[in-house]
Amino acid sequence: MRVEEEIKKLKKERNAVILAHNYQLPEVQDIADFVGDSLGLSMEASKTDAQVIVFCGVFFMAETAKILSPQKVVLIPEQEAGCPMADMITASQLIDLKKRHPEATTLCYVNTKAEVKAECDFCCTSANATQVVEKGLSSAPAIIFVPDQYLASYVAQQTKREFIIWPGYCPVHAAIREEDVERARELHPQAEVLAHPECRPEVTDLADQVLSTEGMCRYVKSSPGDEFIIGTEVGILYRLQKENPTKHFYPASEEAICPDMKKINQEKVAVALREMKYEVQLPPSIIQKAALSIERMLQFS
Ligand code: 13P
Ligand code: SF4
Repeated sequence: MRVEEEIKKLKKERNAVILAHNYQLPEVQDIADFVGDSLGLSMEASKTDAQVIVFCGVFFMAETAKILSPQKVVLIPEQEAGCPMADMITASQLIDLKKRHPEATTLCYVNTKAEVKAECDFCCTSANATQVVEKGLSSAPAIIFVPDQYLASYVAQQTKREFIIWPGYCPVHAAIREEDVERARELHPQAEVLAHPECRPEVTDLADQVLSTEGMCRYVKSSPGDEFIIGTEVGILYRLQKENPTKHFYPASEEAICPDMKKINQEKVAVALREMKYEVQLPPSIIQKAALSIERMLQFS
């Protein structure tokens, strides 16, 4: 039996849904029931009727699905698919930071481990960070923002608020340089530049639009333009091209590849469903505490 057919059959038998992030390999996006950004995937995880969620993304995303659906079985087909940015802050480092700023409300990017979310008041994704600050944190005397310093400075600029910033960053987005965008612009002068807020400020300053990955997909569909320079992980170009076959997409940097996002393939999805592995397990106390910050985020999304 072909692997795709086996996945289809097992999915039915297990009452499973396959969720995939926009950076996943084309072969994984093609078998997913839903492809999206971190916000869309968390929303989908919170409302699915399926008993089993096969999460094709990185570990913090699968943990978020488990936090939102603790009664469901959440599987990640590759245990080693982590996020170096999420590893840049631990719960004990955050506890120390909070002790130094007892007046501050804590806001964590969704790219954090569950135990870090459990120490935070609010969570946010790149799609709703500005909204969460404007609506949820309007009266906070001070805000701690962890762990992405570039997303933090972008949101600070948008909301005209000052944050206590943790110096984390995404190595994939930080590798996209101003010169890369300028070079791409010289080659494609008609193209609009879309950049992810995980990029350096020098890059977001050059962009025509600063958007989450799903924001990019939506923007491209509704834009009259037909050429776009994409400042994020290159995996998203597959979906953009598939949904907009007549438009043209150029990566700001061809080197913007997240190795962790490429660790899952169809074969591993089939194994995950066949052997029901690897199940995401979290202590109930962490689930309970982390759920509060995520639910507060969903309220403002
Ligand atoms: P979004 O898809 O939420 O924009 O996030 C990008 C990212 O880097 C996830 O790891
Ligand atoms: Fe983490 Fe960056 Fe990879 Fe996203 S692209 S999973 S933030 S390392």
